[in-house]
Amino acid sequence: MKLCEIALTAGGLVLEIAAGPDGGNLSPLLHMSPSLPIIVNDIEPRVLELWHDYLAEVLPQNKVWFAAFDAAFMPLRDNAVACASSCGGLGSIAGNRDSAICETFRVVRPGGYLIALEMAFTEETLRSLPEPHCGKEACMKRARPLRQHKATRNAVHILGGSGSRS
Ligand SMILES: C[S@@+](CC[C@H](N)C(=O)[O-])C[C@H]1O[C@@H](n2cnc3c(N)ncnc32)[C@H](O)[C@@H]1O
Repeated sequence: MKLCEIALTAGGLVLEIAAGPDGGNLSPLLHMSPSLPIIVNDIEPRVLELWHDYLAEVLPQNKVWFAAFDAAFMPLRDNAVACASSCGGLGSIAGNRDSAICETFRVVRPGGYLIALEMAFTEETLRSLPEPHCGKEACMKRARPLRQHKATRNAVHILGGSGSRS
């Protein structure tokens, strides 16, 4: 919840990556901000259909779009979203996980957020993000249970942790 609260301060479109049957951070985000614009992604269209039908019933005025694509090759423009969000999504990518991380950084606008609750990523993984690829500075400082780094002008803020959904 705390991470989602911070993510909302990005003030714009959110991309929920590899949402899966549990939806990643979709539920807490919508709970806090029912009209938040969100693109929900998964490679499996049937998962998205289920979420579409469920939200149409419980939150008919939602501003949620559903996009089935491989997160390793996102059909989105650079800097398209204010916040990328993943809860066990990036860590369970089938295929090119490194490419999915690069793509995530490419589509988040400078000053935006990546909120990632991922057991599968080490600090080393995040440190190895290819800065020249997207021209954005990626920094991370460990702080439990929340990771947050101080904003710099061109940075994508990485917020995250591991373990339970927060
Ligand atoms: C374990 S679930 C993810 C966890 C989910 N975010 C949650 O809240 O539980 C893994 C999901 O990632 C999706 N997925 C796997 N590879 C993917 C890819 N390359 N691009 C997008 N989604 C992918 C799967 O279809 C599956 O729904």
